[in-house]
Amino acid sequence: MPKVTFLPENVTVEFDPETMPYSEHGLKASVLDVALNNGLHLEHACGGNNACTTCHIKIKEGMANVSEMEDDEADRLDQAADLSLNSRLGCQCVVTGDIVIEIPAWNRNYVSEGGGSMNLGDAIPVPAKK
Ligand code: FES
Repeated sequence: MPKVTFLPENVTVEFDPETMPYSEHGLKASVLDVALNNGLHLEHACGGNNACTTCHIKIKEGMANVSEMEDDEADRLDQAADLSLNSRLGCQCVVTGDIVIEIPAWNRNYVSEGGGSMNLGDAIPVPAKK
């Protein structure tokens, strides 16, 4: 089962992609989905819809164990602060094996166990697909 280690907290969680419930934020089995399923709050102002950069994370280990970046994610990520070659959007980065991720320093204030930050995704309805 894939393991995700969240730095700097150094908290490691293991999950079964088949049985983990979907958190309804971001892609299924994304870093954001894994975090929310394990009581680790990662900011996600747009509700995991690839429409902000608040879920910016950096892959420290296991780059081969995440989904390939789609063009939409790359375009959005271009707007993130503190961008680096191992940057991803937590809501779009699907975990397929063991990885170690870091929440960038500027984003750490948003991180708290149990959540409690503002989620603009609930305030801005996403148009229904036709
Ligand atoms: S939560 Fe907005 S882009 Fe990931």
